[in-house]
Amino acid sequence: MQPTIIFASRLAKRYGERVVVDAIDFEVRRGECFGFLGPNGAGKSTTMRMIVGMTPRDSGRLEVLGRDVVPEDPWIAQQLGIVPQENNLDPDLAVRENLEIYGRYFGLTAELRRERIDQLLEFAQLSDRGATPVRILSGGMMRRLVIARALIAQPKMVILDEPTTGLDPQARHLIWQRLAKLKESGVTLLLTTHYMEEAARLCDRLLILNNGRILDQGSPEELIARHVEPEVLEIWSRTGFSSLEVFGDLPGRLERVGDSLYVHGDRLEPVRQRVLERSGYSCLLRPANLEDVFLRLTGHELKE
Ligand SMILES: Nc1ncnc2c1ncn2[C@@H]1O[C@H](COP(=O)(O)OP(=O)(O)OP(=O)(O)O)[C@@H](O)[C@H]1O
Ligand SMILES: [Mg+2]
Repeated sequence: MQPTIIFASRLAKRYGERVVVDAIDFEVRRGECFGFLGPNGAGKSTTMRMIVGMTPRDSGRLEVLGRDVVPEDPWIAQQLGIVPQENNLDPDLAVRENLEIYGRYFGLTAELRRERIDQLLEFAQLSDRGATPVRILSGGMMRRLVIARALIAQPKMVILDEPTTGLDPQARHLIWQRLAKLKESGVTLLLTTHYMEEAARLCDRLLILNNGRILDQGSPEELIARHVEPEVLEIWSRTGFSSLEVFGDLPGRLERVGDSLYVHGDRLEPVRQRVLERSGYSCLLRPANLEDVFLRLTGHELKE
């Protein structure tokens, strides 16, 4: 097994009376992609900020690369590529200058800076925007620039807080491709995301956080097998909610979600056929996914 490079034990943080991270334990191993999932306010960003030393913890152990995390420790910041949830670029400087500053901070030579910045601008699809002031970039462009900036010193570990939020589908795929390549080359990735597809594609292991507590952790496949049935049949009616009552006798675990009915079970094809025999209904049979796990564990949205 690969060595642990982030170690957290009974890690806790409160703001005033509110316990935001509630004595959590987790380990990230070298070379893996580890993901944090959880509803808004679950404590994901707070945990990321404690790891990079931007927010002090209240109690518990926290080590990065075998070293106790001390807030504002420049050594930790030097080891990591950091993509914070908020785009903390300098709005008055041009795209290239924002990267320059980081290159200097990490002590890269002028020649190396030029070379890496060219590559990173290309990766971020911003090659023709090098001289543009950041303040007039679109939101997605800024996001791509923040990700590019995190890679300038070729860190062995990158921490990304919602890297692809606000990106268009094409840009998101590009980032996924790039992150997968980084992982292949041995870089450890720690990310948070609200995109279940992103988590399923990139992450070897995931942790689901809710109200500062860990609900479960494991590989995407393990979490799906542990918490939900293998298939989901989504049924929706063109005539409205109440008519779904006619499906009260379907086998499996039923859930009503707005104007749809979800049937969770195994081998649901015959059930799909039965639904199709009735007019006025549409349905979709699909394998269960992380979103089903997320909704079941965090109890969000599926409650009426
Ligand atoms: N500086 C702060 N002062 C007071 N409360 C804070 C501060 N930062 C975060 N919180 C609170 O801590 C809780 C967790 O916030 P956090 O940003 O970690 O959530 P998150 O899981 O990253 O959510 P999101 O998915 O919306 O980004 C929230 O209740 C938030 O209001
Ligand atoms: Mg957050």
